[in-house]
Amino acid sequence: MKFSIVTIFPEMVEAYLGASILKRAIQKGLITVSVHNLRDFATDKHKTVDDYPYGGGVGMVMKPEPFFRITEGLWPVREERKILVPSPKGPLFDQEKALALSQDKTELVFLCGRYEAIDERVTEHLADEEISIGDYVLTGGELPALVIIDAVSRLIPGVLGDSRSSEEDSFSCGLLDYPHYTRPEDFRGIRVPDVLLSGNHREIAAWRKKRSLQLTMERRPALAERYASSPEDREIIERIKEEQQ
Ligand code: ADE
Repeated sequence: MKFSIVTIFPEMVEAYLGASILKRAIQKGLITVSVHNLRDFATDKHKTVDDYPYGGGVGMVMKPEPFFRITEGLWPVREERKILVPSPKGPLFDQEKALALSQDKTELVFLCGRYEAIDERVTEHLADEEISIGDYVLTGGELPALVIIDAVSRLIPGVLGDSRSSEEDSFSCGLLDYPHYTRPEDFRGIRVPDVLLSGNHREIAAWRKKRSLQLTMERRPALAERYASSPEDREIIERIKEEQQ
C-alpha cells in the first residue's frame, strides 16, 4: 500500500515512521510512505507557503499554489490517488474507515496544513476528502496523517506478526477489547482472574466476550447497542443487566 505525506515539517513524520512496526512494514515492502516538503513546491525565491487572510483575522493561511503544484506534478492521474486533507471539519475517522482505506487500491496522499487554515480552494477543488481524527484542534495535519497511516497499516496482512492481533482489537468487531494479563500470576496480591489460568478455552472465550460486552455497555453504550446484535450477545447482555440489579 502506498502513502504520501506533504508537509512543511518532514522530520516530524520521518521520526515516527523510522521506528517499530511501521519501520518494519516499510523495510518488508508492505507499505511505502514518501514524505515531501511542501516548500520545495513554493513559487517564489523565499519558498513562501503562507500569507495573510483575505477579510482580516488572526493567523496565516496556507497558499493554494504549492499544494496544486505538488499534486499536479506528482499525482496527475485522479483515478490513481486519493487526496486526504486532515481537518477538524471533516467526517470522523474510525475503525470502519480504517478498514475501508486499507482496502483502497489507490495511493493515499495526505496534504498537511499548519497555521490557521489551508486556502479553501485546496479543500474544495483538490481534496477528495477532509478527515478528522477527533473533536479537538491540533497544531497541524501531521499527527492526524500518522494516526491514519498507523491504523490503516496494521490492517494490512503481514504488518502485524499475527493477523489475529488486529482481528481481536477493540472496535474490530465493534466492541471494546477485553482485559489482558501476563505474568506474574500474583502481582502485589492482585491476581489474574482464575478462568484465564484454567486452560479451558471455551470458558476463556466466554469470559472475554462477556468482559468485552460489559466494558462496552459501561463506557460506550451506543456502540453496545449497535454491535451486540447476535442472539448470543443479547443473551449475555441480559445476564449482565440481571447481575447488576
Ligand atoms: N488538524 C487539526 N486538528 C485536527 C483534527 N482533530 N483532525 C484532523 N486534522 C486536524
